[in-house]
Amino acid sequence: MVRGYFITFEGGEGAGKTSALTGVADRLERQGYSVVTTREPGGIKISEQIRNILLDQSNTEMDARTEALLYAAARRQHLVEKVKPALEAGKIVLCDRFIDSSLAYQGYARNLGIDQIYQINQFAIDQFMPDLTLFFDIEPQNGLARIRSNQARELNRLDVEALSFHQKVYEGYQILRQRFPSRIEAIDAEQSLVNVIQLAYEKIILHINE
Ligand code: TYD
Repeated sequence: MVRGYFITFEGGEGAGKTSALTGVADRLERQGYSVVTTREPGGIKISEQIRNILLDQSNTEMDARTEALLYAAARRQHLVEKVKPALEAGKIVLCDRFIDSSLAYQGYARNLGIDQIYQINQFAIDQFMPDLTLFFDIEPQNGLARIRSNQARELNRLDVEALSFHQKVYEGYQILRQRFPSRIEAIDAEQSLVNVIQLAYEKIILHINE
Protein backbone atom coordinates (compact mmCIF):
# COMPACT_ATOMS: atom_id res chain seq x y z
CA MET A 1 0.00 0.00 0.00
CA VAL A 2 1.28 3.51 -0.75
CA ARG A 3 2.01 5.56 2.32
CA GLY A 4 1.48 9.26 2.66
CA TYR A 5 3.58 11.63 4.74
CA PHE A 6 2.25 14.36 6.94
CA ILE A 7 4.81 17.15 7.25
CA THR A 8 4.12 20.35 9.17
CA PHE A 9 5.87 23.73 8.94
CA GLU A 10 6.14 25.72 12.16
CA GLY A 11 7.64 28.94 13.46
CA GLY A 12 6.95 32.49 14.53
CA GLU A 13 5.83 35.39 12.37
CA GLY A 14 8.08 36.24 9.42
CA ALA A 15 10.10 33.02 9.58
CA GLY A 16 9.48 32.52 5.86
CA LYS A 17 7.89 29.11 6.34
CA THR A 18 5.02 29.82 3.94
CA SER A 19 7.39 30.79 1.09
CA ALA A 20 9.59 27.82 1.96
CA LEU A 21 6.56 25.52 1.80
CA THR A 22 5.72 26.67 -1.72
CA GLY A 23 9.34 26.28 -2.84
CA VAL A 24 9.68 22.80 -1.36
CA ALA A 25 6.37 21.67 -2.86
CA ASP A 26 7.56 22.75 -6.33
CA ARG A 27 10.78 20.81 -5.97
CA LEU A 28 9.09 17.67 -4.70
CA GLU A 29 6.59 17.80 -7.56
CA ARG A 30 9.40 18.20 -10.10
CA GLN A 31 10.91 15.02 -8.63
CA GLY A 32 7.63 13.21 -9.31
CA TYR A 33 6.12 13.22 -5.81
CA SER A 34 2.45 13.87 -5.41
CA VAL A 35 2.07 16.79 -3.01
CA VAL A 36 -0.83 18.56 -1.32
CA THR A 37 -0.16 21.97 0.25
CA THR A 38 -2.47 23.40 2.84
CA ARG A 39 -2.59 25.60 5.90
CA GLU A 40 -4.02 26.08 9.36
CA PRO A 41 -6.26 27.60 10.39
CA GLY A 42 -8.00 27.09 7.05
CA GLY A 43 -7.42 24.88 4.04
CA ILE A 44 -11.10 24.12 3.47
CA LYS A 45 -14.32 26.13 3.58
CA ILE A 46 -15.42 25.63 7.20
CA SER A 47 -11.93 26.10 8.59
CA GLU A 48 -11.36 29.22 6.47
CA GLN A 49 -14.57 30.62 7.96
CA ILE A 50 -13.23 29.91 11.46
CA ARG A 51 -9.93 31.52 10.38
CA ASN A 52 -11.73 34.74 9.52
CA ILE A 53 -13.12 34.93 13.06
CA LEU A 54 -9.74 34.12 14.61
CA LEU A 55 -7.68 36.61 12.64
CA ASP A 56 -10.18 39.48 12.53
CA GLN A 57 -8.42 42.41 14.18
CA SER A 58 -11.74 43.80 15.42
CA ASN A 59 -12.33 40.72 17.62
CA THR A 60 -10.37 42.27 20.48
CA GLU A 61 -12.70 40.78 23.13
CA MET A 62 -11.83 37.16 22.26
CA ASP A 63 -11.11 35.05 25.35
CA ALA A 64 -7.92 32.95 25.24
CA ARG A 65 -9.81 29.65 25.74
CA THR A 66 -12.29 30.56 23.00
CA GLU A 67 -9.30 31.17 20.75
CA ALA A 68 -7.78 27.78 21.64
CA LEU A 69 -11.08 25.96 21.02
CA LEU A 70 -11.62 27.65 17.67
CA TYR A 71 -8.14 26.64 16.48
CA ALA A 72 -8.87 23.08 17.59
CA ALA A 73 -12.25 23.09 15.82
CA ALA A 74 -10.68 24.37 12.58
CA ARG A 75 -7.99 21.69 12.95
CA ARG A 76 -10.52 18.87 13.34
CA GLN A 77 -12.49 19.70 10.22
CA HIS A 78 -9.34 20.24 8.14
CA LEU A 79 -7.86 16.94 9.33
CA VAL A 80 -10.86 14.77 8.51
CA GLU A 81 -11.90 16.57 5.33
CA LYS A 82 -8.55 17.22 3.69
CA VAL A 83 -5.42 15.87 5.39
CA LYS A 84 -6.43 12.27 6.10
CA PRO A 85 -7.99 11.59 2.67
CA ALA A 86 -4.83 12.93 0.98
CA LEU A 87 -2.58 10.75 3.16
CA GLU A 88 -4.76 7.72 2.45
CA ALA A 89 -4.26 8.42 -1.27
CA GLY A 90 -0.48 8.24 -0.67
CA LYS A 91 0.26 11.96 -0.99
CA ILE A 92 2.83 14.08 0.80
CA VAL A 93 0.85 16.67 2.74
CA LEU A 94 2.75 19.87 3.54
CA CYS A 95 0.80 21.83 6.13
CA ASP A 96 1.56 25.40 7.20
CA ARG A 97 1.10 25.09 11.01
CA PHE A 98 -0.60 22.37 13.07
CA ILE A 99 -0.86 21.44 16.78
CA ASP A 100 2.57 22.88 17.72
CA SER A 101 1.24 26.35 16.88
CA SER A 102 -1.52 25.86 19.45
CA LEU A 103 0.95 24.53 22.01
CA ALA A 104 3.35 27.49 21.50
CA TYR A 105 0.82 30.32 21.02
CA GLN A 106 -2.15 29.33 23.18
CA GLY A 107 -0.42 26.90 25.55
CA TYR A 108 2.74 28.82 26.30
CA ALA A 109 2.42 32.44 25.11
CA ARG A 110 -1.20 32.83 26.28
CA ASN A 111 -0.39 30.92 29.48
CA LEU A 112 -3.13 28.30 29.08
CA GLY A 113 -0.57 25.54 29.64
CA ILE A 114 1.09 23.31 27.04
CA ASP A 115 -0.35 20.16 28.66
CA GLN A 116 -3.88 21.61 28.80
CA ILE A 117 -3.78 22.59 25.14
CA TYR A 118 -2.34 19.21 24.20
CA GLN A 119 -5.27 17.59 26.02
CA ILE A 120 -8.04 19.64 24.42
CA ASN A 121 -6.48 19.04 21.02
CA GLN A 122 -6.70 15.28 21.47
CA PHE A 123 -10.46 15.60 21.04
CA ALA A 124 -9.72 17.11 17.63
CA ILE A 125 -6.86 14.91 16.46
CA ASP A 126 -7.09 11.59 18.37
CA GLN A 127 -3.29 11.22 18.78
CA PHE A 128 -2.77 11.83 15.07
CA MET A 129 0.61 13.60 14.94
CA PRO A 130 2.83 14.71 12.03
CA ASP A 131 5.50 12.34 10.67
CA LEU A 132 7.91 15.28 10.58
CA THR A 133 7.77 18.90 11.72
CA LEU A 134 10.15 21.56 10.41
CA PHE A 135 10.69 24.45 12.79
CA PHE A 136 11.84 27.63 11.03
CA ASP A 137 14.16 29.23 13.52
CA ILE A 138 14.49 33.04 13.49
CA GLU A 139 14.87 35.58 16.31
CA PRO A 140 11.39 37.08 16.91
CA GLN A 141 12.53 40.67 16.33
CA ASN A 142 14.05 39.71 12.97
CA GLY A 143 10.88 37.88 11.93
CA LEU A 144 8.69 40.84 12.90
CA ALA A 145 10.98 43.23 11.01
CA ARG A 146 10.52 41.07 7.93
CA ILE A 147 6.73 41.11 8.02
CA ARG A 148 6.64 44.86 8.70
CA SER A 149 8.78 45.52 5.64
CA ASN A 150 6.54 43.32 3.49
CA GLN A 151 3.85 45.77 2.37
CA ALA A 152 1.83 43.09 0.60
CA ARG A 153 1.13 41.22 3.84
CA GLU A 154 -1.88 42.30 5.85
CA LEU A 155 -1.25 42.20 9.61
CA ASN A 156 -3.63 39.97 11.59
CA ARG A 157 -4.84 39.88 15.22
CA LEU A 158 -1.80 37.89 16.39
CA ASP A 159 0.81 39.74 14.31
CA VAL A 160 -0.02 42.95 16.15
CA GLU A 161 0.74 41.48 19.59
CA ALA A 162 3.76 43.01 21.40
CA LEU A 163 7.30 41.74 20.86
CA SER A 164 7.16 40.12 24.33
CA PHE A 165 4.32 37.87 23.11
CA HIS A 166 6.35 36.76 20.09
CA GLN A 167 9.33 36.11 22.34
CA LYS A 168 7.16 33.84 24.45
CA VAL A 169 5.97 32.03 21.31
CA TYR A 170 9.65 31.47 20.45
CA GLU A 171 10.38 30.11 23.94
CA GLY A 172 7.34 27.88 23.62
CA TYR A 173 8.76 26.35 20.44
CA GLN A 174 12.09 25.72 22.21
CA ILE A 175 10.23 23.75 24.88
CA LEU A 176 8.45 21.75 22.18
CA ARG A 177 11.75 20.94 20.48
CA GLN A 178 12.95 19.42 23.75
CA ARG A 179 9.71 17.58 24.26
CA PHE A 180 9.50 16.11 20.74
CA PRO A 181 13.16 15.80 19.64
CA SER A 182 12.65 13.01 17.13
CA ARG A 183 9.71 14.69 15.36
CA ILE A 184 10.79 18.35 15.28
CA GLU A 185 13.77 19.38 13.13
CA ALA A 186 15.01 22.97 13.23
CA ILE A 187 16.06 24.95 10.18
CA ASP A 188 18.10 28.16 10.45
CA ALA A 189 15.62 30.59 8.88
CA GLU A 190 17.88 33.66 9.13
CA GLN A 191 19.45 32.53 5.83
CA SER A 192 18.30 33.35 2.30
CA LEU A 193 15.07 31.76 1.10
CA VAL A 194 16.96 29.66 -1.48
CA ASN A 195 19.10 28.10 1.27
CA VAL A 196 16.12 27.60 3.56
CA ILE A 197 14.23 25.78 0.77
CA GLN A 198 17.26 23.59 0.08
CA LEU A 199 17.62 22.62 3.77
CA ALA A 200 13.91 21.91 4.16
CA TYR A 201 13.89 19.82 0.97
CA GLU A 202 16.88 17.76 2.15
CA LYS A 203 15.30 17.04 5.52
CA ILE A 204 12.07 15.89 3.89
CA ILE A 205 13.85 13.63 1.39
CA LEU A 206 15.93 12.08 4.18
CA HIS A 207 12.79 11.41 6.17
CA ILE A 208 10.90 9.87 3.24
CA ASN A 209 13.82 7.56 2.44
CA GLU A 210 14.29 6.46 6.04
P1 TYD B 1 -1.14 33.44 9.24
O1 TYD B 1 -1.45 34.70 8.52
O2 TYD B 1 -1.36 32.16 8.51
O3 TYD B 1 0.29 33.60 9.85
P2 TYD B 1 1.67 32.94 9.50
O4 TYD B 1 2.02 33.40 8.12
O5 TYD B 1 2.57 33.50 10.55
O6 TYD B 1 1.49 31.45 9.61
O7 TYD B 1 -1.97 33.43 10.59
C1 TYD B 1 -2.04 32.39 11.44
C2 TYD B 1 -1.94 32.96 12.84
O8 TYD B 1 -2.59 32.08 13.75
C3 TYD B 1 -0.51 33.08 13.31
O9 TYD B 1 -0.35 34.31 14.00
C4 TYD B 1 -0.36 31.95 14.31
C5 TYD B 1 -1.73 31.73 14.82
N1 TYD B 1 -2.05 30.37 15.25
C6 TYD B 1 -2.26 30.12 16.60
O10 TYD B 1 -2.14 31.02 17.45
N2 TYD B 1 -2.60 28.85 17.00
C7 TYD B 1 -2.77 27.83 16.10
O11 TYD B 1 -3.10 26.70 16.50
C8 TYD B 1 -2.55 28.11 14.71
C9 TYD B 1 -2.72 27.03 13.69
C10 TYD B 1 -2.19 29.40 14.32
